Amino acid sequence: MKIAVFDTHRFEREALEKANVGGALGHELSFFEPMLTAQTAALAEGFPVVCVFVHDRLDAAAIALLAKGGTRLIALRCAGFNNVDLNAAGEAGIRVVRVPEYSPYSVAEHAMGLLMALNRKLPRAYNRVRDGNFSLDGLVGFDLHGKTVGVIGTGKIGAAFTRIAKGFGCRLLGYDAYPNQPLIAETGIEYVSLDRLYAEADVISLHVPLFKETFHLINAEALEKVKPSVIIVNTSRGALIDASALSDALKRKRIGGAALDVYEEEEDLFFRDLSNEVLQDDVLARLLTFPNVLITAHQAFLTEEALGGIAGTTLGNITAFEAGKPLSFELKA
Ligand code: NAI
Repeated sequence: MKIAVFDTHRFEREALEKANVGGALGHELSFFEPMLTAQTAALAEGFPVVCVFVHDRLDAAAIALLAKGGTRLIALRCAGFNNVDLNAAGEAGIRVVRVPEYSPYSVAEHAMGLLMALNRKLPRAYNRVRDGNFSLDGLVGFDLHGKTVGVIGTGKIGAAFTRIAKGFGCRLLGYDAYPNQPLIAETGIEYVSLDRLYAEADVISLHVPLFKETFHLINAEALEKVKPSVIIVNTSRGALIDASALSDALKRKRIGGAALDVYEEEEDLFFRDLSNEVLQDDVLARLLTFPNVLITAHQAFLTEEALGGIAGTTLGNITAFEAGKPLSFELKA
């Protein structure tokens, strides 16, 4: 099928071409650098399939233009789908598929990597040593062993993170609309109310999807309920945290630190080299000034295994659509 791949980056192009086995699957991939939005949707004219990622904005206006141009399938090459208006797609007769699972380890391991790097001050230590400064002052961290880790959202990624934290010897608290029973048996995680998790956790790691109910889950009110030493880790979606409230709490030393792979206004920033530009986002600029904040630009999924899994499932979804087969990973409003 003719596929218009939007918001393409070098790191994924290779994986998609490899999954297309040199065209043997019969798909024709056209790579576009711009994000898919109402302003760029015209580029997809004549493409029955558009393939999109986390920052493409498939609102009602973009979807109407896609439908007009003959698009019949939106293939998300990610798990989260908060950027697609599923009602509008349904009304326009455009089907939507996603990649619900691809190496949950990639994200869970990055979450733990961020936590360790922030807690043990690894970026600061690395820069000091490279500069010939071998002093240890200001680099004191804490043992994770014996600490209480609160996992919010214990689906595939949250469960993988829980198992890693179990390996560190942490006490585990969980919060999820649907407690993961096998995970309780395996790790001893105790499901508690959000308030109790906030009150007891030394580390809080977010792994719930972004929905209306989870938007700004960590807001000013929640930040008053957590331990003053807590480290908050977010590798899920930026808007789970009210970034201004987080910045305010950090400034007031109300929390111990934040390790973030996602940011609520990341769409126009992340995945781009803006090192020659003046950063216009004042909240992000302020967050970057705190010594107890560590930010990566949405790279938790960036492992060979995850990229291969994403590409394979994405093209598998499209092949099934072309063959008129049932779409196992279809999203409906
Ligand atoms: P999943 O669907 O396996 O797990 C999500 C869990 O959240 C489920 O157990 C569900 O019951 C729970 N949940 C949903 N709504 C809830 C609510 N309102 N209250 C309490 N619990 C609720 O999803 P998975 O694969 O673990 O992914 C989690 C999120 O991670 C994705 O939605 C995505 O936003 C993010 N992600 C981030 C990546 C990155 O590179 N930073 C890459 C992949 C995913």
